[in-house]
Amino acid sequence: MAQIDIFDTTLRDGEQSAGINLNTVEKVEIAKQLERFGVSIIEAGFPASSPGDFEAVKQIANTVKNSTVTGLARAIESDILTSYEALKGGVQPHLHTFIATSPIHMEYKLKKTPDQVVEIAVQSVKLARKYFPLVQWSAEDATRSDKEFLARIITEVIRAGATTINIPDTVGYTTPAEYGALFRFLQETVPGIENVKLSAHCHDDLGLAVANSLAAVENGATQIEGTINGIGERAGNAALEEIAVALQIRGDYYRTQTGIVLKETKRTSQLVSQLTGVMIQPNKAVVGKNAFAHESGIHQDGMLKNPETYEIITPAMIGDASTELVLGKHSGRHAFISKAKEMGFELPDEKYVQAFSAFKELADRKKEITEEDLFVLLTDQQVAS
Ligand code: KIV
Ligand code: ZN
Repeated sequence: MAQIDIFDTTLRDGEQSAGINLNTVEKVEIAKQLERFGVSIIEAGFPASSPGDFEAVKQIANTVKNSTVTGLARAIESDILTSYEALKGGVQPHLHTFIATSPIHMEYKLKKTPDQVVEIAVQSVKLARKYFPLVQWSAEDATRSDKEFLARIITEVIRAGATTINIPDTVGYTTPAEYGALFRFLQETVPGIENVKLSAHCHDDLGLAVANSLAAVENGATQIEGTINGIGERAGNAALEEIAVALQIRGDYYRTQTGIVLKETKRTSQLVSQLTGVMIQPNKAVVGKNAFAHESGIHQDGMLKNPETYEIITPAMIGDASTELVLGKHSGRHAFISKAKEMGFELPDEKYVQAFSAFKELADRKKEITEEDLFVLLTDQQVAS
């Protein structure tokens, strides 16, 4: 089983979502829950970006013991030194530094030539290695970069001492086959790449972040980055809970292990949603309110006979309460009677039949049937019997 390190950036890339602003106490609470969830690395923030971020990263580095804590730094001396001040109390000081490598970023944002970018990247990694035993280097906008240039700059930063190489799909542009091929190309081309961790970092602009991350795993990535509930810039980052559950449920295919404690999934997701104020869409995979809700009669009947007919993940696995058979206009008689019995009603068969047709009429008119509605319907039949 290959080991995949899960790198959580909820507190850095996730907090970059429009409208999210966490204070230090909230960030420390999320970091402690991420530690319980078993992530290998917590990116706690961007220390040079504000005094608040500096303080939060410092407190998290001094508090968390079972996950490595990192912070983001541009390829600038002052960012690297400030990050060291914030991170030096950690068990294993780790720095994440980056520079953009795509033609559009180098020309318009950085206003540097490719040769200058290589030089800046090398100097920043050398400086970082004077302070940090672990240095992750990211090629921002890697998936829109020239492949040969990417291989050249990665070769140089590995020589300069980078211990992890991250290949971000910064604007969520790539596809699973293309991203997988890029991982293979780099492993075939870059000398020494087998001695560093190789990381995937995907954004969700085309809705492919999780699929792209899994393609990277299939093609040699040993670290996956993402956020809880997929929060992040624009359309967000790869949702870590989806990746962790996919690697577990399809262990037959991926043959990997992560240190993730899956039964902490629901709790982690809810804490992040509460503290960030970002609601989870009901049909969101794994942690959405409807992820274990079944409404149609055929599905409910199957579920009552054997839950594996329509559920590949059990709610217990992710620390969720239970499967829910939702009663609505698509529901069948079996689920209706089972719910009535669960509510304590024992009626003769013909009364169940009458209650069920009254329920179907009501369900056609009302979007959601509540327990109170059922109680009234079933009590009417009980009184009449
Ligand atoms: O998406 C991105 O390119 C980033 C880098 C800073 C790693 O978040
Ligand atoms: Zn990102």
